[in-house]
Order: sequence, then C-alpha cells, then structure tokens
Amino acid sequence: MWKGRFAQETSALVQRYGESVSFDWRLYPHDIAGSIAHSKGLLKAGILTAGEQQQIEAGLLEIRHEIEKGQFEFKESLEDVHMNIEAELTRRIGPAGAKLHTARSRNDQVATDVRLYCRANIDTVLKHVRAMQAALVECAERGGDTVMPGYTHLQRGQPVLFAHHLLAYVEMLDRDAARLADCRKRVNVMPLGSGALAGSTIILDREYVAQELGFDGVTQNSMDAVSDRDFVAELLFDLSLLGVHLSRLSEDVILWASAEFGFVTLSDAHTTGSSLMPQKKNPDVAELTRGKSARLIGNLMSILTLIKGLPMTYNRDLQEDKEPLFDSIDTVVLALEVFTEMISGMDVNAARTTAAAGDPMLLATDLADYLVNHGVPFRQAHEVIGKLVAYSIQEKRGFGDMELAEFQRFSPVFQADVAACLNLETAMHARKGIGAPSPDNVKAQLARWRKALTA
Ligand code: ARG
Repeated sequence: MWKGRFAQETSALVQRYGESVSFDWRLYPHDIAGSIAHSKGLLKAGILTAGEQQQIEAGLLEIRHEIEKGQFEFKESLEDVHMNIEAELTRRIGPAGAKLHTARSRNDQVATDVRLYCRANIDTVLKHVRAMQAALVECAERGGDTVMPGYTHLQRGQPVLFAHHLLAYVEMLDRDAARLADCRKRVNVMPLGSGALAGSTIILDREYVAQELGFDGVTQNSMDAVSDRDFVAELLFDLSLLGVHLSRLSEDVILWASAEFGFVTLSDAHTTGSSLMPQKKNPDVAELTRGKSARLIGNLMSILTLIKGLPMTYNRDLQEDKEPLFDSIDTVVLALEVFTEMISGMDVNAARTTAAAGDPMLLATDLADYLVNHGVPFRQAHEVIGKLVAYSIQEKRGFGDMELAEFQRFSPVFQADVAACLNLETAMHARKGIGAPSPDNVKAQLARWRKALTA
C-alpha cells in the first residue's frame, strides 16, 4: 500500500508485531458498510462513475458474503482488515478498486468502523440488559410477598420483600441502560472525511455519507476526529459499571445459595458439581461473573492509559484499543445471557427467608417509630429501644414474648397496641412511603417494570 517510498520489504517480525487483522477482522461488516457509503460520496463528488461505484459496491458485498461463509482468507501481510478488503477488491475489479481510498485515510476509516461497531454492540447489550431486567422482574413475581431480612453491613437490618431486593437490581440495570443510550449519542457521529488528520482537498458531501451510514451527524474537527477514542473509554466505563452491578448481584446470589442462608435454590443447569466432594452444588455462574468484572475494569484502565500520553493526532498506539473493546463487549454480552438464564431458574426458599425475617430484632426500629408516633423524640426513643434490645438479649426473650409490663419498665408510653407493630405483615404494610417495600408498593413497581419492559 505504501510501496512507492520504500526500497526494502517490511521485516517479518515487524509484520507480526504490527498486524491487527487477527482481531480487527471482526470489523468487516462495518468496514464494508463504510466503504460502500464512501464510494457513494465519491460518486456524488464526480470521482467515480456510476459504473465504477456499482463495481465497488458489488465487489464489497461479494467479499462480505465470503467472509460470512468463512471463505475469505485474511492475510497477515496485509496488516489489517481495511487493507485486506481493499486489496482483495482491487485484485478483483481492478482500476475502480484503486480509486476507493480517494480522500480517505485508514485513520478516519478505522475511527468510523470502530464507531459503527460500538453502535451496533450498544444496541445488542441494551437488548440483553432489558432481557435481564425482565428475568429479575419475573423471578420477583414468582416470589410473591415473600419476606426476607434486608441487610446493612451484612447484618440483619429491617424486613423487606424478596421482590424489593431484586427490584433494586432492576433499577441499577436501568441506569446502566440509560448510560449506554447516552453514550450511543456521542458514538453516533461520523469521522469519515477527516482523512489522515487534515481532511482532503477533494470535497465530499460528508453529511450525505453520514446519512447513508445512519450517523446522526459528522465530526467538526478533523484532528480530533481521527484521534478521539473518548467514546471507547466511555463505553468501557459503562460496561465496567454494568459488570460491577452484575458482580454485586453475584455476591448476593452466592450468599443466598449457601447452606448458611439457604434463601434461594439455583437450577442444576446453572450450577456445577465438585470433582471431589459429591454433595457440592456450586454457584459458578455467579462466581465467574463476579470474576469477569475484573477484566472489564482492566480493559477500562487499558484504554484510559492508552490515550493519556498521545500527542495529536492519530498514533499507532490506538490500534491497541480494539482488543479491550471487543473483550468487554463479548464478556458483558455472555454474562448477561447466562445470568438471565440463571435468574429465570432461581427460586426463593420462602420458608428460610421468612424464618430469618421472623427475627424480632428486625422490628426494633418499628418499636422506636411506635414511641415517636406517641410523642417521644426519636433520639430518646432510639435509646429506650436500645435498652429494650439489651434486655431482650440478656433475658433470651424476643419482643413478641414479653409482657406489656416489661415494655413499660422502659417507657410508660407503651400500651397494649404495641403488639400490632410487632406483627411482620402489619410492619410490611406500614412501609408504604414512595420507594419503600410495602406489598402494595412492590406490586405497583412490578407492574410498572413489566409494562416498561414489554413496551
Ligand atoms: N490498524 C490500524 C488501527 O487499528 C488502522 C489505522 C492505521 N493507520 C495508520 N496510519 N497506520 O489503528
């Protein structure tokens, strides 16, 4: 491609070191779409005749078809996906192929390809995020009004509905989806026409080419356009945070599936056995997902570090953007797919969660609220109930087993109706403020999500 200036062949080692086709071949559908749109721009600018443009388009479509069928041979000596496709096109159609690279550089070409790749894969990830949310909603619905302890510091705090806990993840995933959708806006801007760094003296209708490719607009600074990989960093951050959310859910599932909690049962299809201990049923899917969040974060660190020291404009370092990007997309898509399946096969063990939620200590805050409702300032109420808790532990008697007279030893405000706030069902219904886990609220949230996710 640059034989004019050089007297010596590229060293075999340099070829091996610099080739990217072994991984960037995956950009082929985007590279071909970009080239077809570019050829239309060249036609409009009078650089290509209609016949030449048709030859180019047909040739590229034929090449795409062969790649899809696994019949195309990518050559390391041709370095990257761009030169492999262009060289083969020119070998097939001759002079018209040799005109395709007019007013274009691989710098604006690769930036365009990567943006098209990101756009397509954001859409794929979004689809999987929605499926995962739907699986969580469906699992929550299967759990009905099952109560469980809610935790802070991994210590029992207050009772919640199992469904409320799962819906927390639906909310997290929704923010992930919103971030991805927002990132897509910055991805969907076309760099093509920026050339190597300073555009071209051959003027193409960039807006028209952008429209052909479904871009919302075109970049406004050729130097920025060829060197910008902010959108990759941004996408890798969004995927990292999504991975971190899946990792947190993994941690919950791993705890819940343990004998100590026994809160959920995972299907046999989504767990594995031990080669040594016959009784084992391990939550490997959740463990792997927790583990894979590490590489998502690593990929984000790679891209940030890659960009930080680059002088304007394109530098070959940027070739290193692709493997972390591809890896994060592959990792997240597979994690979401397998996690969605696993959640669909996960059942809550209501007997265990209800028994755990029956711990009277979970209603200590409700007792403090009872005093507040009878005029006691909260700080005082907190102290009174703190003493009552210490008494309960010392006497080894739960609040429900105590006489009214015992309550009154700690505060004369307690009356017979204190019994009502020690009823778990009543306590759950009392949590009816916006965002709190009363059964009615949770039912409304499930309905809201079900509607949003089927829309
Ligand atoms: N394979 C290269 C990359 O991924 C394509 C752009 C090469 N440009 C260049 N000036 N050598 O970045």
